[in-house]
Amino acid sequence: MAAPLFVPPQPAADLAECYFYHTMELPGHGIVEGEWDLRPNIDAYLGGVEFSGRRVLEIGTASGCVAFHLERQGAEVIAFDLAADQCTDVVPFRGDDLEVRTARVRQHLQRIRNGFWLAHAAHGSKVKRAEGTVYAIPEALGPVDVTTFGSVLLHLRDPFLALASAARLTRQTLVVTELLQLRTWQRWLLRLSGTHGPVWLPDARTGEPKHSWWYLPPELVTRWLNILGFARTTVAHHTQLFLGKPNQLYTVVGERAPAK
Ligand SMILES: C[S@@+](CC[C@H](N)C(=O)[O-])C[C@H]1O[C@@H](n2cnc3c(N)ncnc32)[C@H](O)[C@@H]1O
Repeated sequence: MAAPLFVPPQPAADLAECYFYHTMELPGHGIVEGEWDLRPNIDAYLGGVEFSGRRVLEIGTASGCVAFHLERQGAEVIAFDLAADQCTDVVPFRGDDLEVRTARVRQHLQRIRNGFWLAHAAHGSKVKRAEGTVYAIPEALGPVDVTTFGSVLLHLRDPFLALASAARLTRQTLVVTELLQLRTWQRWLLRLSGTHGPVWLPDARTGEPKHSWWYLPPELVTRWLNILGFARTTVAHHTQLFLGKPNQLYTVVGERAPAK
């Protein structure tokens, strides 16, 4: 028998078993503190796109702050993230015990998943959750009108494959939000060089970072979206709070050309 497409809503876990990636205000719980507080500027984070009445696939939902926001905007939302037996792409530094690291990441993801379901119950949400890897999103989840990639591509070994996997299910709009990870002068040098290639982050000398692979310049993401059929693109920069401090990010919105 084929596995069900959506995960049945899970009973809310105890708050102590949850980890929150996002700061969120949850009815009945108040404010739960997370690493990122997207609340003050979430519309910019999502590229100022109109979501009302649209079917939206949110890739890498984590604690679900973006999914629940989209639902409040009137979207029908599918929140997508890894299943319990899967793991993020960890950088395989020689000397690291990958089995131990993978087990730790899975435990951490389970606590984030618990937080998602706690928030889902607290909001009385109708967001549907599907699990799997973004590299092979089930065809049956589509078609959707919009897909969002919020701070996901930098954590993937093959970000273009992930975009292509989502693009095939996306009728109209693809939204990519990424961190501007390099210093301003480094980004200027990249621009002057005119190459706009991805910048490789992991360094064997420091053994860091362990969970991020790339700085992806907005020009590169734009070219990728163009290749995948999102011919009209806009880029906007914005600031979001990480552990209370402002961080620079950018969002590329790609629209498919209207059918002739
Ligand atoms: C940095 S969080 C971004 C959370 C949220 N999208 C946002 O914009 O704030 C990255 C999320 O991507 C998920 N993720 C990482 N690799 C993935 C993969 N291969 N397939 C699906 N989700 C993945 C992680 O589990 C995590 O929830």
